[in-house]
Amino acid sequence: MPHLFSPLTIKGVTLRNRIGMSPMTMYRSVDGKMDDYHVSYLGARAAGGFGLVFPEQIAITPDGRTTVSCAGIYDESQLEGLERVCSIISSMGGVPAIQLGHTGRKGSLVTPWEGGYMLPPDHPKGWQTKAPSAIAYGGDMPYAPEELTVEEIHDLYRSYARSAAWAVEVGFQWIEMHYAHGYLGSSFFSPISNHRTDEYGGSLENRARFHLEALDAVRAVLPERIPLTMRLGSDDLNPAGTQFDDSVVAIGWMKEHGLDLADLSFGGNTDDMHEMIFNQPRAFVERASRVRREVGIPVAASWNLGKPQNADDVIKDGLIDLVLLGRPALSNPHWPVWAARELGYDNPFGLVPEDWGWWLRNLRADQESIGFPAVSEETQGAPAAASVPTSGPKVATADVEPGASTLDGIPLHDAA
Ligand SMILES: Cc1cc2nc3c(=O)[nH]c(=O)nc-3n(C[C@H](O)[C@H](O)[C@H](O)COP(=O)(O)O)c2cc1C
Repeated sequence: MPHLFSPLTIKGVTLRNRIGMSPMTMYRSVDGKMDDYHVSYLGARAAGGFGLVFPEQIAITPDGRTTVSCAGIYDESQLEGLERVCSIISSMGGVPAIQLGHTGRKGSLVTPWEGGYMLPPDHPKGWQTKAPSAIAYGGDMPYAPEELTVEEIHDLYRSYARSAAWAVEVGFQWIEMHYAHGYLGSSFFSPISNHRTDEYGGSLENRARFHLEALDAVRAVLPERIPLTMRLGSDDLNPAGTQFDDSVVAIGWMKEHGLDLADLSFGGNTDDMHEMIFNQPRAFVERASRVRREVGIPVAASWNLGKPQNADDVIKDGLIDLVLLGRPALSNPHWPVWAARELGYDNPFGLVPEDWGWWLRNLRADQESIGFPAVSEETQGAPAAASVPTSGPKVATADVEPGASTLDGIPLHDAA
């Protein structure tokens, strides 16, 4: 029976465990580039044991960013930073994943800490947004997008494909398309934001066309071994918006168009949500599990899965295939190690690079004083759940005799 620390293979890619760092926009790019900042924090999460590491939504066009400080993969000058990010993640044993995005009518914003509101199209740091229909999101995003022409929609497929090909070239091994959270793809699916009367609006088939044609365009440039996944705005939680039942049907079609895993999330096309599920543990797990069952496709979910027992249970119970962690990954780069200890798995330090794991195992200190929280009482003394396979990257070190090493001259004992 798979558990949180079992490997997961999709297409030709194997994750060392089923814990992914969910994509999180950092608003720390200049000219859409990634730099030392991204290399260091993403490398830390890979070194901390995450099997899959997403940087953040990375825009396929300049106007597909959320703010001018967001990352892109639309210009060759951005590739060097992305290559460094892939290199550090891979060298720490993680699989680098990219989330290709376009924010549609939810772009042209300022950063969250500046207020997160929308800038008008003529502002030097803003732009004219584009979307399926010329309907403003409203509230803090009052400026209406322009309706995309069919020709522009076809151009977007070319942008997705070019960005995906570049992504593989720089070392990403997992391609996700961001079609959730009210961004461009999600806004095509939702009747709230899509009022088109052509072949891209109206019926479910038409509202899913932007998904299927984009999947075709991207799959055509990907090597067969690379998984192609989508984060889907599967429910607007509003009777006028995206209905989950429709999403289940459309995901079945997407599977036929090369989708390898569905990452279920919320629609985000309106603030008027009639059900507030975000604070619930396992907010999207039941929905994801239904897709897994009815469509027969691997699924991932995020939202409130940061309690180790909860994360392990949703895998063990066969509900989802991959746990994605957002805020827990920000707060604890070693979340996988902590979770393995907390759950009573043997060999939690096998998750981190070999040399590092060696030190953490062997430091003559009680573990709380080296920064790991105490294992809860119920876990202590419980039989080991299973063993975490040693998966941290190997390093070339001279053989060290157990028990004969020192920490700056202080002898260390070798823990069992
Ligand atoms: C700072 C921050 C930035 C985020 N940026 C993105 C993003 O770029 N793309 C995306 O799909 N989700 C984004 N999210 C959502 C997360 O990926 C994740 O789905 C969400 O935080 C729920 O998971 P959690 O409960 O483990 O935090 C962001 C979340 C946070 C906290």
